[in-house]
Amino acid sequence: MSDRRKFIKLSMLTSAALLAGKKLFANTAPDPEYKYPVVKDAAVVVSTWDFGKEANAAAWTVLGTGGRALDAVEKGVKVPEADPNNQSVGLGGRPDRDGKVTLDACIMDENSKCGSVAALEHIVHAISVARLVMEKTPHVMIVGDGALQFALENGFKKENLLTEKSEKEWKEWLKTSQYKPVKNIENALPGGKSNHDTIGMVAMDSNGNMSGACTTSGMAYKLHGRVGDSPIIGAGLYVDNEVGAATSTGVGEEVIRIVGSHLVVEFMRQGNDPETACRKAVERIIARNPAAAKEVQVGFLALNKKGQYGAYALQEGFSYSVKNGKVEEVYQAKSVFSSKKQ
Ligand code: GLY
Repeated sequence: MSDRRKFIKLSMLTSAALLAGKKLFANTAPDPEYKYPVVKDAAVVVSTWDFGKEANAAAWTVLGTGGRALDAVEKGVKVPEADPNNQSVGLGGRPDRDGKVTLDACIMDENSKCGSVAALEHIVHAISVARLVMEKTPHVMIVGDGALQFALENGFKKENLLTEKSEKEWKEWLKTSQYKPVKNIENALPGGKSNHDTIGMVAMDSNGNMSGACTTSGMAYKLHGRVGDSPIIGAGLYVDNEVGAATSTGVGEEVIRIVGSHLVVEFMRQGNDPETACRKAVERIIARNPAAAKEVQVGFLALNKKGQYGAYALQEGFSYSVKNGKVEEVYQAKSVFSSKKQ
């Protein structure tokens, strides 16, 4: 068949399909039960802490209209990154001991493609730089000045991420320079508002594909150049589209030592449900160093291919947010160390 005849045949087929589509659409009455028109049961997004609820809502604007999980998680975590009142992620994040805000972030898709930045300064949306590393370079991870250079070359704007509030608190901290992570710092804040550490988000879209994103300003008043678990694929985040996805929050060093998120996914591969997989990873941290484990917080959050989710933490106080076609909730994770009965 000549190219011209092929083109005419294709045009006729396309017109017929469009007409059929139009008729079908006109005969389909909207179902008032459905808040989002394209949602299928599979779509779900989960993220760490209660501030994840707002991030999930942004992710849902993608998932709820049939979009890709990768786009959803990027859009979702950009919400706390841009929030100057969230002092653990992006703009307004607490600085290192030298007063510099340095960001860690990573992203991973359903094809095991991944990208990451660490110790990135001056760029609000570290997650979008991580995505560009994944999509535009043959590398997985770019750090420090190189990450900033890469971001600027790709059109990102240089900004001051240190807000007045975070600067004031840092100057207060300098008076004692005590370097000890505060367990569940959110309990100490007015109104019990969570403001602790890292957003990790994992999602499954209506095609059953999974992606994840993780972004943080890291441990407050860390040594300049310190990198936590959040930008490390396998530690702060892992996605295996055959099995499920997991992410973590808390003291990154403990997570890196057990390659925590990958471990959670492997526990799911062995047949464990998400909560059990997270609990087993937490128990691995305790087994490695029981005394140290009592002093720090680590929480894991996981999602499997059935859309089931679960979390577990070392200490009580770790919350996580869930959004799917049926629920939009914040839950408290169970923990090993707790004053309350589980
Ligand atoms: N989980 C964040 C950090 O340790 O930097």
